[in-house]
Amino acid sequence: MGDPADPNFTEQLGKLQAKYNAMGQDLSSYLDGLLHADFLTYWDYIHLDTLLSLQSPKTQFPDEKIFIIYHQITELYFNLILWEIDQIAAAETLNESFFVERIQRINRYFQQLRDSFSIMVHGMEKEQFLKFRMSLLPASGFQSAQYRLIEICCTDMINLVNVAEREALSEYSDIGQQLEKLYWRSGANELASGKRTLTLQQFEEKYMPVFKAAGMKQRDKNLRKLYLKNFPQSEAVKQTLRELDTLSNVHWPLAHLRAAGHYLHKNPQDIAATGGTNWQKFLPPRFQKIIFFPELWSPEEQAEWGKAAFDPGK
Ligand code: HEM
Repeated sequence: MGDPADPNFTEQLGKLQAKYNAMGQDLSSYLDGLLHADFLTYWDYIHLDTLLSLQSPKTQFPDEKIFIIYHQITELYFNLILWEIDQIAAAETLNESFFVERIQRINRYFQQLRDSFSIMVHGMEKEQFLKFRMSLLPASGFQSAQYRLIEICCTDMINLVNVAEREALSEYSDIGQQLEKLYWRSGANELASGKRTLTLQQFEEKYMPVFKAAGMKQRDKNLRKLYLKNFPQSEAVKQTLRELDTLSNVHWPLAHLRAAGHYLHKNPQDIAATGGTNWQKFLPPRFQKIIFFPELWSPEEQAEWGKAAFDPGK
């Protein structure tokens, strides 16, 4: 407790003195400052007031707040996922247990996102949702840049290319060509005309340079590359990466699809008539076949990718 007679206390003071001396600073002036400083509070530490001021509903419908906060929660989890990926990429020497543990962290975040998606599916009144969503157009979760960055950091760009174009390009093709054919660039198209929506145009305009830079940076150190280079034989690594692939490319997309099906399920003619997008053909993971680690799945498993119980197209 800082008893001056305690040798530990004297030792700590000595270390502090050395630390401040090394920077040419006078410790006793800083101690004076400490005398006047406030104690840290929980609410200041996590910036609670700021956090709770970041919701600005566009309508009077109470459930819009749930929609906003759940998106914010998701973006925070996406940020934690990117944080782990950054640390893996920055590690000077990668060892197997560190790699596995960090991927397990990411898997836990995705599990939370998958399991909590019922908040979207069942936690808002449909009548309210269908009204307030019209006030948010053309914004869409489709425009989540962090979601796209997670994809770019997990695998090589070729695995994010539209499935119909993937064969024609290769892992070593020019990154510009690969970016041109990214799978999601054929999403958010108008169902009736096939044209790119404003949602897509604005997203590309703001973020394509960011995605290009990320693609270049991750070319040699995305998770797939790191796995193939460092642990190609490790069963523990393979197992956690298979789990990551399933969570991020099947489970989360299916949980999300369930929400779209619950609120927006109409027949394609009605959707076309109201200027809707091609989401029914875009969102089901069995159509896009996005697989971060294709070498971890047999051809049969790849053929069955994403074929799960719910299918809004039927
Ligand atoms: C009631 C809830 C939701 C509905 C009805 C819904 C609907 C949709 C639809 C229709 C699309 C296709 C693009 C478009 O037509 O705009 C889409 C894409 C997307 N949404 Fe949602 N969404 C919901 C919640 C969320 C949440 C909470 C997130 C979290 C950030 C999110 C993230 C995304 C992402 C990342 C895409 C692109 C998916 C991909 O490219 O594979 N959505 N959403």
